[in-house]
Amino acid sequence: MPSLLDLTAQGDVGTMTDESKLSSVTLMDPQQLYQLWERQNWQAHAIDFEQDVEDWRAFSDQDRAHISWNLSSFFVGEERVTTQFSGLVMAYENQSEEAFLVTQQVDEARHAQHFNRFYEHVLGYDGSFDERLQRAREDLNDAFIVLFDEHLVEASKRLIADPSDVEAKVDFVTTYHMIIEGTLALTGQYFITDFFEKQGKLPGFLEGFRKIAQDEHRHVAYGTWFLQQKARDPELARRIRDKLLELIPVAAGVLVPPGLDPNEPYEILGYPSDETNAYAFTALTRRLKVIGVPLAAESVPA
Ligand SMILES: [Fe+2]
Ligand SMILES: [Fe+2]
Repeated sequence: MPSLLDLTAQGDVGTMTDESKLSSVTLMDPQQLYQLWERQNWQAHAIDFEQDVEDWRAFSDQDRAHISWNLSSFFVGEERVTTQFSGLVMAYENQSEEAFLVTQQVDEARHAQHFNRFYEHVLGYDGSFDERLQRAREDLNDAFIVLFDEHLVEASKRLIADPSDVEAKVDFVTTYHMIIEGTLALTGQYFITDFFEKQGKLPGFLEGFRKIAQDEHRHVAYGTWFLQQKARDPELARRIRDKLLELIPVAAGVLVPPGLDPNEPYEILGYPSDETNAYAFTALTRRLKVIGVPLAAESVPA
């Protein structure tokens, strides 16, 4: 089964679109996605964590360590994607896109609120929101820091410097919507949700996490729509491809628990790494086909 790591090991797997490969799949546009947001709205502070507090106490120390590593990536990740989103709001091209983009930024703030409440009330992290975030940062691996504090922040700065720079906007959406959300977040959400559902544990956490996943699918739908539009220009399609090839090895590293070798098999919450990598690979490649920038060996060279 192909995986993210196979993809990075192949070296030049890059591909270029030509006229015959341009995608014609019809996607929801920003106006439709905004209206969907109105229908799917929810409240992080309405969630009850009473059962979660008991479940957390009953986990073994080892399970708690594994779970908190996985969840800290999400907690800090939600803060990062909220903070770094403003440049994209400034880069809107029409009123419908602006309306959708501001909903995405408030979604990310709500996701961070859900994790902040969970860390405070269930994991028992004292102090302020900022202090909890700082403590959660101690769980992260180096690849996470490189992706979220360097690549994402740099893409955000370039967009804020000139919101009309279409290349900066394409780089930002490729980094944010395709790699961080479409590849990493949706993969992590799938396995973490499956893990807790099978155990019948942490119902309050899961209630919010399912709502977060619903929001993330809407966000990724926007990113897919945007990049499909821009990939009609061969230069921008090449740019999307190059950015993906730069970031896929970093993204593969984000999934690896601290201290483990990404080239050796490992497990996350009992799921083998080839299974999580294959899920991430499939999620990414399926969207890239729709966008019109497939990462396939048989494609036309640049
Ligand atoms: Fe989010
Ligand atoms: Fe998101």
